[in-house]
Amino acid sequence: MTEPTAPDKKPFLYVVVCASGVAGDVGKLITAAQEADWDVGVIATPQGLGFIDTKAIEAQTGYPIRSAWRAPGDPRPLPPADAIAVAPATFNTINKWAAGISDTLALGILCEAYGMGIPIVALPYLNSAQAAHPAYRQSLERLRGMGVLIGSCAPHRPKAGGAAERFRWEEALELLEAALPGSGGRGRAGFTVEDLPGVPVAVGRGNRVCAGLGADERAAGEGYDMLAGGGAVADEAL
Ligand SMILES: Cc1cc2nc3c(=O)[nH]c(=O)nc-3n(C[C@H](O)[C@H](O)[C@H](O)COP(=O)(O)O)c2cc1C
Repeated sequence: MTEPTAPDKKPFLYVVVCASGVAGDVGKLITAAQEADWDVGVIATPQGLGFIDTKAIEAQTGYPIRSAWRAPGDPRPLPPADAIAVAPATFNTINKWAAGISDTLALGILCEAYGMGIPIVALPYLNSAQAAHPAYRQSLERLRGMGVLIGSCAPHRPKAGGAAERFRWEEALELLEAALPGSGGRGRAGFTVEDLPGVPVAVGRGNRVCAGLGADERAAGEGYDMLAGGGAVADEAL
């Protein structure tokens, strides 16, 4: 298994897996990301763990799957994230994330990632009865307002056997790549330096911008160059 603290040459993608019927195919996203030159680590929700082949995923990524917080003083099992893909994203996790609830490690990472300027894509997979709940529309609006990129898979009919064949795992990478600098996008999580006056902003691997709380800490740890701002803030979840 890869040593998590080893110098990391490739950008690192966190794949957050929720408890959905399609989660068992997450290996497809891992393969596609690795082929696109990402290193990948998986964070599963506690419920999501039951839907995936943990041994196969750990063998594929070379990293332990994270699902619970580490003990104080333990080393961080994964390198810091350069981007995050939530796939599949459940109704439950989408609504809790938008509300700022942080009662799973996955949610803790997602809630902090916004403030750290880490680009995030979420591919919801849920049925139309769940999607009809007014909270869901509001949650998506809030997440979009935070710069989260949202996948296009339409909700399937309840109790009609899902729509796994319509769920495009590669869409996570397509949306992320379009948002990164040098690809015509606006940069990480849609931020530009001008959008964030007074906020720590660092530029690192592949000219990627890390903005927000913790940017200076990441800059120091990973050879990023600081552009503006200051004030270290501890990054506990990541
Ligand atoms: C077999 C099965 C399939 C499920 N599929 C979905 C799904 O596709 N989307 C969804 O939002 N919830 C689905 N659920 C419900 C979630 O697993 C449940 O809401 C869970 O609490 C989500 O936890 P998490 O968001 O922490 O991963 C499914 C449940 C079961 C038992």
